[in-house]
Order: sequence, then structure tokens, then C-alpha cells
Amino acid sequence: MPTPSTLISETDLQNRIDEIAGEINRDYADSDLLICVGVLKGSVFFMVDLLKRVTAPVAVDFFQTASYGGAKVPGEVRIRKDLDLSIRGRDVLLIEDIVDTGYTLRTILDLLRFRGAKSVKLCALLDKVEAREVEVPIDYRGFPIENVFVVGYGLDYDERYRNLPYIGVLEEEQ
Ligand code: PRP
Repeated sequence: MPTPSTLISETDLQNRIDEIAGEINRDYADSDLLICVGVLKGSVFFMVDLLKRVTAPVAVDFFQTASYGGAKVPGEVRIRKDLDLSIRGRDVLLIEDIVDTGYTLRTILDLLRFRGAKSVKLCALLDKVEAREVEVPIDYRGFPIENVFVVGYGLDYDERYRNLPYIGVLEEEQ
């Protein structure tokens, strides 16, 4: 398999994560318990690095989603793994590797609010701005990126490349 070219280096990722963690630490300094929710599988690498820098008390939980038939279409995001924890009355921070069309995050954000979270914010490492089809407010954003196919640091191509420590691009001819 080809080696993806570097879009965002490991150093740039880690420096930006330092900054985001600083913002989160300021914003949630008084939170009783922040429920940090990752969306499997892509968010895991980012979530681990981010939460190691968060000093507020946190609990960790996960969603896993899928789209019916594999294609992302409005209203067809399916929950494959639901949360274990109750979020009623809690501050919730949703952590994602990438917001693309926005359907996945829109669905999850609506569900978290419906379940009575005290507050819900979204932290996304990558924002593929031009691909957006539904509006999703990103409270903590790592990097805006072009409409290119990215891999690494949690993101996959056919389940490969998730463990790259940087964000890479697979060139079209590859
Ligand atoms: C990716 C990503 C988000 C979603 C964003 O997950 O981690 O969950 O797609 O896309 P959207 O904005 O178009 O809804 P994916 O479904 O590829 O699963 P994975 O994290 O297991 O790779």
C-alpha cells in the first residue's frame, strides 16, 4: 500500500491538541463531571491524546454509527452502539475525528439534546467545510481542510492507515 503524503504533521496535530485542551480546561473548570463521548472508530486516537491533557473530571463513553446501505443520506444514520451512561443533566462533549457531510454529528447532537443533557458541545479535529450538507456547529475545531480524502490518526481507507501518527492524503493515482 502507498504511503500517504502528509497534510497535517504529528507535531502540528499535537500542538493544536494542546491548545484545544487548554480551551476545554478553561470552559469546564467548574463542571461536576464532563461526559466525553467518542464516535467509533475514527475518534479514538484524537480522543485519547486530547483527554490525557484535560484536567476537569471526565467520564468516557462511545457511540458507533453506520449509514444504511453505506451511503450517507439525510435521516439514515443508524446507531450501532449506544451509550452506556445516562447523560441526563450532564455536560456532554462529543469528540470526533472529522465532520464531513454533517449527517452523523447532526443525528448524534439531536439525540444527546433529546435525552436531556445539560449542555452539549462538539469538538472535531477536522472540518471538511466544503462537503457540508447539514449545518453542525463545531465548538472546538482543530483544522479546516479541503475536500480531499484523508487518512491517518484514526481515519481509514478500507480499515487501513488508522494508526498513522499524522493526517495524510491518498493521491488519486494511488
Ligand atoms: C466518519 C467520521 C464521522 C463521520 C462523519 O466515520 O468518524 O463519524 O464519518 O461523516 P459525516 O459528516 O458525512 O456524517 P465513519 O462512518 O467513516 O466510521 P469510522 O469512524 O469507524 O471510520
